[in-house]
Amino acid sequence: MIYLDNSATTLVKPKEVLKAVSAAVTRFTANPGRSGHRQSILTAMEVEQTRVKVKEMFNLNSENNVIFTANCSAALNLIVLGSAKQGGHVVCTENEHNSTLRPLEALKQKGIIDYTVAFQSRPGGISKADIEKCLRPNTYLVICNHISNVNGDTADITAIGKMCHEKNILFAVDGAQSGGHEQIDMQKSNIDFLALAPHKGFYALQGLGVLLAQTPEALSPILFGGTGTNSLELFQPENPPERFEVGTVATPAILAFSGGLDFVKENFSLIHDHLDDLTTFLNYELSSLPVEIYTTTENSKGVFAFNIPGMHSSEVATILDEKYGICVRGGYHCAAKKHEALGLLDRGAVRASLSIFTSFTDVQKLILAIKSILKKQKLC
Ligand code: ALA
Repeated sequence: MIYLDNSATTLVKPKEVLKAVSAAVTRFTANPGRSGHRQSILTAMEVEQTRVKVKEMFNLNSENNVIFTANCSAALNLIVLGSAKQGGHVVCTENEHNSTLRPLEALKQKGIIDYTVAFQSRPGGISKADIEKCLRPNTYLVICNHISNVNGDTADITAIGKMCHEKNILFAVDGAQSGGHEQIDMQKSNIDFLALAPHKGFYALQGLGVLLAQTPEALSPILFGGTGTNSLELFQPENPPERFEVGTVATPAILAFSGGLDFVKENFSLIHDHLDDLTTFLNYELSSLPVEIYTTTENSKGVFAFNIPGMHSSEVATILDEKYGICVRGGYHCAAKKHEALGLLDRGAVRASLSIFTSFTDVQKLILAIKSILKKQKLC
């Protein structure tokens, strides 16, 4: 079996993550922040240390502004719904995931906001100019996918953040696909909110998302409940993270994330170079074949999208799985606007997404399988 679906979630976990998960289910099993006893405090200290590591990696202003959520979609919902302004306008991009598009559309349907989707004027990613032409006098938020989960297109977040800052517009980044693959400095890039998916670029567990909120005062909570603090009050606490983090947190997933942060910090250049090399190789080999390629390799970070002419992407994905033992994702990747922009509403795209644990042999086997499908289709 060859697993090339790391943008959906990573299959292989590094030893740092496995060790952290083992500790989470043997030593740190009490509920952090709920009771005053030693077991609870021990677990809480591990959770708090994870916040500090995240804060440092992304140059966030305070570890208290690291908010753990159920998944990256929940973090994006908190940004969109929690910052909503009656009569306001939001700019997003063609690269947004449904986790951003659907809450925006829900707010629009309720007559609360209007929003504009910015499309790319050049292949490779969204530029400042692409966003700028969509701004209106009442734009209060720009929410921008950093690296597309469909084809790896990468937005120029630093230039966009600077422009938003100058115009006093909140700037949010969906880092689901970029966290762990790209250096992100929230202060340098003027990012108010950054959403992460630790089970992707940090090789951690499913069931955890993270919202890094540089300006949490611009958000209202969208979930209400127990925080372990001010229990006699019926109002949600004022301060983050408790303001936004309700109910028992996913300690095993948080500690796995902690292990993943250590792994990525230690191996950042290696991961970066390996993904670059593999995607360049894949692109080079497929470019000489009658394959439609939708990825600009210098940006891709291991996300590679293609189609075989005349075939639906889901059909190709099923053949790759059933006949060649290769796991990829076909279809629409929960990102309808991207498929619209690429002209792929009729057949989606086949996405091969790589990780540090993907080998050159894995990629070679994918190339051989594609050649064999092309032959069967009499395309080469
Ligand atoms: N958003 C994830 C993907 O791209 C699940 O497949």
